[in-house]
Amino acid sequence: MLGRIIAIDGHASTGKSSLAKSLSYEFNCIHINSGSMYRAIALHIINNNLIKYIESDTNYLMSKLDGISLEFKEVGTKLKLFLNGKDIEKDLNSLVVSNEVSNIAAIPEIRSKLVKLQREIDRSKGIIMDGRDIGSVVFPDADLKLFLTASIEVRAERRYDELIKKGANVTLSDVINNIEDRDKKDSNRKTSPLIIDNDAILIDNTNKTISEQLQLIKEIVQSRFYN
Ligand code: CDP
Repeated sequence: MLGRIIAIDGHASTGKSSLAKSLSYEFNCIHINSGSMYRAIALHIINNNLIKYIESDTNYLMSKLDGISLEFKEVGTKLKLFLNGKDIEKDLNSLVVSNEVSNIAAIPEIRSKLVKLQREIDRSKGIIMDGRDIGSVVFPDADLKLFLTASIEVRAERRYDELIKKGANVTLSDVINNIEDRDKKDSNRKTSPLIIDNDAILIDNTNKTISEQLQLIKEIVQSRFYN
């Protein structure tokens, strides 16, 4: 995997990050969840009462984001995201953040800021990055591009279980609404919409376990990189 790039894009809550994380252990490379970067910006905007500027004054909003620091730091075997020096990971998947993040991710200035950071990450060990525009925009020359999808029911149930385990107070229909809303916004925005890139391999994991997906991707990697 040294120096190689795997891009994993796909619909909301298709398990991209869990899969990417397992693959990164398997191939001894870095995993970056680009969605966590958009979520961190959304969290900052929510916590600082800046939501009203998303539509009314993007320049002012961007000026308020100018000084923020967003960095991945190694904690044990994991890379964790820090916002202004603070570990914010546990707050990123809340429904409050999920309900704002796609509006924020549609702002071109925010996208270019984050794409720049994503391209600056050290790829010498190899990198697996998951998101929405990784194969199409961030790394169009990626060595392997995957696109994950699954039925809305299965995706919503997986995310709902995850949130309930963390003690969140949500209903299944809140989760379904959020996932449908994000897919719609992510696919229809003007800048870097979610698309299935021509050279991406489409994987529908509705009926696949994590270990079946891992096996499938390991076979794809083996034949693409090592044969
Ligand atoms: O894990 P999940 O599928 O719920 O989403 P995520 O990867 O955490 O991404 C959250 C949101 O960030 C997405 O719905 C997009 O609006 C945005 N995003 C994006 O626009 N581009 C990326 N490369 C990654 C995420």
